[in-house]
Amino acid sequence: MPNSSDIDLSILQNITSETKRQWLYLSKTDSTNTEISRRLHNHPPEEGLVVIADCQTSGRGRLGRVWHSEPKNGIYLSTLFRPALSPEKLPLITLMAGLATVFAVNQIIPCPVRLKWPNDLLLNGKKIAGVLCENHSTQTPAVIIGIGINVNHSQFPSEIKDIATSLKLETGLKVNRTSLIKNLIMQLDFQYNELKNNKIKILLERWCDNTDLFGKTITIKKGNQKFTGKALRLDKLGRLIIADKLGNELVLDSGEVSLA
Ligand code: BTN
Repeated sequence: MPNSSDIDLSILQNITSETKRQWLYLSKTDSTNTEISRRLHNHPPEEGLVVIADCQTSGRGRLGRVWHSEPKNGIYLSTLFRPALSPEKLPLITLMAGLATVFAVNQIIPCPVRLKWPNDLLLNGKKIAGVLCENHSTQTPAVIIGIGINVNHSQFPSEIKDIATSLKLETGLKVNRTSLIKNLIMQLDFQYNELKNNKIKILLERWCDNTDLFGKTITIKKGNQKFTGKALRLDKLGRLIIADKLGNELVLDSGEVSLA
C-alpha cells in the first residue's frame, strides 16, 4: 500500500470478477484516460485494464474541459472495454458507466446521487462525478471509460465552487476510496454484463429511475446550437428525446444539458 494513500491495491486485486483484470496504480499521471490510450498505441492491452491515479496533472473532462484532480481526495479511474457492440449502440456504454457510478456511490452515502444526461452525477444539484468515454476502436473495439469522483475534497477552486461538490462536503463523511472503487468495479462488471447480454431495456429503465430530468424544461447546448424543450424520455439507443414548445419531438445524441 503506497504511503499515506487510502487506496489499497491488494484489496482491489482480490475482487472476484468475471472480467479478468489487470490493475495499475500510479501516484501521479497526466490523465488515466491518456495513460490507457498510450498503451493502446504501444502494446494494446486486453479488456479489463484498470488504471487508478492518486493525482492527475492534466485531468480531462467532457467537451475539452479540465477535470479538477486534487491529489489524494478524488477517484481518478479509467478502464478499457472491448465491447462487441454495433457503433450506434456504443453510447450505451457511457450511460451504463454513469449508472454503475450512481449505484456505487449510493451504496455508501445516505442521500441519493442523481444522473443528468448523458452521464453527470449530481448531489444536491451540484456535480459530484463525471464520465469521459473515448472510443479508440480501429479494427478491434477499444473504449476507454474514465470516471472521476469528488470524494473527500474540502473545497474547490473559485471558478467551479458553485457547480462542483464532494461526497464529504455534502454528507460530512470521509469516504474510504478503496471501498468506493471496489463498489464501482463490481457495479461496472454487473451493468456491463447486462449490456453484453442485451438487457438494454432494463439498463435504460434503471437509468431513467435515477434521474430527475424528465418533465423538466431543459436547454441542450450542442456545438453552436441550443435546443430548449421538455425532457420526455430516452430512446432505445439512450438518446434524449425532448419536445419543443410546439410539441415537436427532437432526438439528441450528445450535448450539455442545463435547466432552462
Ligand atoms: C466530465 O466532464 O464530466 C467527465 C470527467 C471525467 C474525469 C475522469 S478522471 C479519470 C479519467 N481521466 C481523465 O483525464 N478524465 C477521466
